[in-house]
Amino acid sequence: MLRMVRLTLTEDVEAVVLIVRTVHLSQRPAQTSQCRQTDSDFIPLNEERLQRFQKALGFESVSRDSGDSNTDEIFKFGEFIIASFPHIHRHSPLVTWERVNNLSLLYHIQGNDPSLKPYLLMAHIDVVPVTNLDQWDAPPFSGEVKDGFIYGRGTIDDKNNVMGILEATEFMLSSNIKPKRSFYISFGHDEETRGNAGASQVANLLRQKGVKEVEFIVDEGMTVLEGIIDGVAGPVASVGVTEKGIVLLNLSVELPPGHSSMPPRETAIGILARAVLRLEENPHPSMLGAGVETDMFESLVPKMSYLQRVVISNIWLFRYPLSWLLSRKPSTNAVIRTVTAVTIFNSGVKFNMIPPLAEAKVNHRVHPSQTIQEVVDYDRAVINDPRVKIEVVYSMEPHPVAGHGESDFGYQVLRTSVRQIWPEAVVVPAIMVGNTDTFNFLNFSTNVYRFSPTHMFPGDPERFHGINERMSVKNYEQVINFFYHLIRNADQAGLSPVHSAHPDL
Ligand SMILES: *[C@@H]1O[C@H](CO)[C@@H](O)[C@H](O)[C@H]1NC(C)=O
Ligand SMILES: *[C@@H]1O[C@H](CO)[C@@H](O)[C@H](O)[C@H]1NC(C)=O
Ligand SMILES: *[C@@H]1O[C@H](CO)[C@@H](O)[C@H](O)[C@H]1NC(C)=O
Repeated sequence: MLRMVRLTLTEDVEAVVLIVRTVHLSQRPAQTSQCRQTDSDFIPLNEERLQRFQKALGFESVSRDSGDSNTDEIFKFGEFIIASFPHIHRHSPLVTWERVNNLSLLYHIQGNDPSLKPYLLMAHIDVVPVTNLDQWDAPPFSGEVKDGFIYGRGTIDDKNNVMGILEATEFMLSSNIKPKRSFYISFGHDEETRGNAGASQVANLLRQKGVKEVEFIVDEGMTVLEGIIDGVAGPVASVGVTEKGIVLLNLSVELPPGHSSMPPRETAIGILARAVLRLEENPHPSMLGAGVETDMFESLVPKMSYLQRVVISNIWLFRYPLSWLLSRKPSTNAVIRTVTAVTIFNSGVKFNMIPPLAEAKVNHRVHPSQTIQEVVDYDRAVINDPRVKIEVVYSMEPHPVAGHGESDFGYQVLRTSVRQIWPEAVVVPAIMVGNTDTFNFLNFSTNVYRFSPTHMFPGDPERFHGINERMSVKNYEQVINFFYHLIRNADQAGLSPVHSAHPDL
């Protein structure tokens, strides 16, 4: 009886806390003025700008494999860029630029306030190859406009960002606007193959020039999603504030070979099969409540139904049922934990021979709240069999988590710029499940934001590296203006103090 009473009391207290927190998280400030076509500094997508983008899409600047790319086309695309933006490349005394390793490009735009730390904008000029040519609605290197969409390989990955950054910078310089804060622009040429001839050489060059630190970095990444996240209405601008790490493992079991007429009780295949099964049956623990994904769900609150709000505002309370729910879908499961994919399994020589060796390859994508060592230790404990040899073939730690609070300058610059273009959007920090060129620049700043101002609707995410890659004409205009606002907003000396929206209960 006593226990019952106490239980109700606790529940009452929890209910009150719950409501307080729900209300609190729902009241996010929104103090941005929208970008309008009538603004004196609005950059309209006139015929000239549209044609420049279409021409950029015409270059078959394809990277196939590390060291295997259309270097001539990549070089020509660079020549086109240099010829097309006269203020950046010739007239402006504020800009210095150079080719890096012949095919990549690095720019420095001098600001007039040397006390402000510079920042870095990144994009890449190579694209992935085209497949299923017959299924495209327009030729992939045509830049053709059809029903309001610009088609072509590179429209969302990543010539949109290359050309958007250039148009915004050219507009600023040709309007005689001098930035206060200096910035760098890096266009790598081998992002798609994670090569080390492009962005990695740009990073080396920056280091040689004595650059040690930048205020923040913006590179391609996550996008503005609409109608894609279950139960969330309106656009959501997801900003990748970290990237998952990678561990590739080689599991093997070696046993003396023998004849199949007198088999041992267990074979290498059986032992390894059990190990693999244990890995699949014991997924890595849910990290919900421990990191970025919690901040992401909480930032989504203003766009949710009341019931969702109550749950999401109180992840500390609903952690277990919520983890269970999110684990059921591969796309959300990937956000809350280190995932495990057994990708190769090899063994066996002959029908009548006991196999001497069984080998399996395991591909882990590591949650930012875990380390590589923790992942390997967990696997070892789960497999719990010394006959299974576990070797790390390749690994990369998850990237540090970039600041994404009310007092993080880079994040707030990005957030403000997004809301000027998409006033109804919520901006949420997120974990990027894939990887980009940013790993080369982690020594320059922990504030790395992976975001592309691409507005995506259901069906669009499949266009990344896929068929009918395209961007609406309107969206491309938004891309240009987004980068222009970003450059202007970064000229602020700092943030004015804002009250934290995250009270610790
Ligand atoms: C740069 O690349 C282009 C295209 O492959 C090539 O024609 C040119 O000779 C290269 N220049 C240098 C200096 O390597
Ligand atoms: C995996 O381990 C086995 C056994 O040690 C070895 O023969 C094989 O070369 C390894 N494979 C890789 C990709 O490291
Ligand atoms: C970053 O700095 C560390 C320590 O100086 C160094 O070991 C590492 O190689 C650097 N990373 C890159 C990508 O340059």
